[in-house]
Formats: sequence, structure tokens, C-alpha cells
Amino acid sequence: MNESTPSRRMNTTLNRRHFIAAAGMAAVAASTSSSKAAEAGAAPLKIIGVACSPRKGMTTAKAVQAALEAARAVDARIQTELLDLGGLNIHGHSPTPINDDFNPLMAKFTDPAFGGLIIGSPSYFRTMSALCKAFIERCYALRDPKNVFANKPVGVVAVAGNRNGGQELIIQQIQAAMISFNMFIVGGNSPAYLGGTLVASKDDISTDEVGLDSARKTGARVAQVVLRLAGLTAG
Ligand SMILES: Cc1cc2nc3c(=O)[nH]c(=O)nc-3n(C[C@H](O)[C@H](O)[C@H](O)COP(=O)(O)O)c2cc1C
Repeated sequence: MNESTPSRRMNTTLNRRHFIAAAGMAAVAASTSSSKAAEAGAAPLKIIGVACSPRKGMTTAKAVQAALEAARAVDARIQTELLDLGGLNIHGHSPTPINDDFNPLMAKFTDPAFGGLIIGSPSYFRTMSALCKAFIERCYALRDPKNVFANKPVGVVAVAGNRNGGQELIIQQIQAAMISFNMFIVGGNSPAYLGGTLVASKDDISTDEVGLDSARKTGARVAQVVLRLAGLTAG
């Protein structure tokens, strides 16, 4: 078959049409991505890390902090804030209004800059801490009139005293709860697929390199998804 056969001419026409259509789509994609980049200042690029140990500044807070630092390292546009719940008075859900330390936190999540969440809990009898559960229950108030968590990524880190101290169970408990907020559940980058799993030895996680790495990989993954959802990464 040569150039002048009817079949060849038809193929050439189709190829031209395909090229023009593809070029048009590329132009639209380019203008969308540049306009999204122009909006980057207003994009929800803030990742909030919530440390749910009643002991302020201890191993859970440090694990969440490690995840947040790794999130910032992904891209200079990522901002982070640690909410250490240690020492705060936060009750679980109540059918009547409660005036406690949860209420002032709500504005952090309704802020348009809020783009992703990292939750950290210590292992208490292989389950999340009561403080963590209370925090999540109170987030119920953040679903109406607008679900501020919907379509935002959440990663989880868990710290226990033993290597197999319930970390993976806790991550899954928290992930299951956050599905109820229509969040996008993310783990960590390979090999920390589920999230951050840390072991504290005498209240210290600084020597748990594997665990710290898993926390960092979780923070990085949350940041990558935040950027992607904001239309600020290619692909
Ligand atoms: C009430 C309680 C229950 C605990 N249960 C477990 C457990 O089931 N498995 C485990 O490995 N460590 C357990 N631990 C140890 C904590 O998970 C560990 O000390 C963790 O680092 C505490 O976090 P924090 O330093 O942020 O307070 C428990 C500690 C407490 C106080």
C-alpha cells in the first residue's frame, strides 16, 4: 500500500484530525494549569498535624512534627501547623453544647488555607487514645453546613511502646473514622504504605530510624496529594 491509496489517505486525514484535537486539548490543559498556578497563593496548601497524646510535646507530638517537616520539604508552598492536644480539655460528642478547648480549634479547619491533615495517636491498649477519639467525634461539628474535611487527604502516624504495639491497628481505626468525613485516605510513600508506625523507647523516638522514616514518608505523601489536588503538580 502506498501514499495514494484511499486507505492511506483516510489514515492521513484521521491522523491530522487527531493531532489538531490533541493540540487543542494540550492548549486547554496548559491554560488551566497556568491559571491554577496563578491561584497558588489562595490554594489550600496548609497541612495541620494533630497530636493526640494527653502528654504535650512527647513522642506522638514529635512523630507528627517529623511528618510535618517532611511535608514542608516537598514544596516551599506547603505550610504546616502542629496542634498538640496534650493538656487540652476535649470531651467526646455530647447531645448538648459543650464549651471546652475544642471550640477554638475549629477555625483552624474552616480556614480556606486548610488543605490536608495528619493525625497522630499513641497506642493505648492497641487502640487510639481517648483524646484522639474525642477529637474525631467533635469534628462532627465540622461537617455542617459544609464538610470542611471532604476531598482532603489525611495521613496517620501511631506511636507505641512496643514494636508490635498496635500501631497498624490504630492507623486503620483512624483511617476508618476519617472515611466518614469523605476524606481521601493516604498512607506513606513506599515502604510505609499504611502510615507512620513508631516505637518509643523510654519516651524517645529519636533512635527509631525506621519509624521516623515512615512518619516522614507519610507527611511527604500528604503534601504530594495536597499539591496535586490544588492542581500544582503535573501529571
Ligand atoms: C494507658 C496506656 C496504654 C498503653 N498501651 C500500650 C499498648 O497497648 N501497646 C504498646 O506498645 N504501648 C502502649 N502504651 C505505651 C504508649 O503507647 C507509648 O508510651 C507512647 O509513646 C505514648 O505516647 P506519648 O509519648 O506521646 O504520650 C500505653 C501507654 C499508656 C499510658
